Amino acid sequence: MARSETKLTKYYVLRASSPLVGALPHTRPFSKRSLYAFLDRYRKVIAKPASGSGGAGVIMISSHGQSSYRVQRGATRRTTRGKKGTYLYLRRNIRTRYLVQRCISLARINGRPFDVRVMVQRRSGSHWVVTGMLAKVAGRGYIITNVKRSGGRVLPLRTAIRRASIRRSSTDAIIARLHRIALLAANRLATYYTHQRVFGLDMGIDANGRVWIIEANLRPDISLFLKLSDKQMYRKIVSYQ
Ligand SMILES: Nc1ncnc2c1ncn2[C@@H]1O[C@H](COP(=O)(O)OP(=O)(O)O)[C@@H](O)[C@H]1O
Ligand SMILES: [Mg+2]
Repeated sequence: MARSETKLTKYYVLRASSPLVGALPHTRPFSKRSLYAFLDRYRKVIAKPASGSGGAGVIMISSHGQSSYRVQRGATRRTTRGKKGTYLYLRRNIRTRYLVQRCISLARINGRPFDVRVMVQRRSGSHWVVTGMLAKVAGRGYIITNVKRSGGRVLPLRTAIRRASIRRSSTDAIIARLHRIALLAANRLATYYTHQRVFGLDMGIDANGRVWIIEANLRPDISLFLKLSDKQMYRKIVSYQ
């Protein structure tokens, strides 16, 4: 049976696992109603293509004082008036199916947000293993961390966490949390994508050290790991293929 690969399908598959609920930013198909509800509920909201990749079309909408909003796409920003004006602006700029998602306030390094790529793999008939983790730091002025599109860079995860201003958690505790959630997510996704041997998770860390699953990639680009000067993770990932 063909499996839907949209971000919403993966979100619903993950949501059905109760230990993962707290790691998933609330997500819905894009509509006037869902946008209004999310803008009322969260200070920052992401709109993105249901089947996008590489950071294309990702838009951040943040509340900006009295019924005005700041809309950021790529490195460009503009201000919109009211929920209605914001909806109409997005509608005009959206050509494909979109979803809305709570925006996580990602931890930052020198003002730039970063998220974490976690590779989870299994050999035939064996259990899931975390084979690599790295930090993707957004390029200057971008809200997306995709290295190519934002002109960002990768860092070893420990270096990134140490340089970021994250309260309340040690580096080891955060890494352990990422590990645990990533394995739960891979096991859950594998109940639906039964033939899958690899997942590349994009995970966020917020300013309080809480970890979030932003999306799950079914065909992750492993060349990201070649950009690290230490090639050990890259070799491990290849050895699992
Ligand atoms: N809910 C969110 N909160 C914060 N940042 C987000 C959120 N969704 C996406 N982003 C940012 O945009 C990037 C691209 O979004 P993602 O969902 O990974 O789609 P793509 O398939 O285009 O990579 C993420 O790596 C992250 O930097
Ligand atoms: Mg991604």
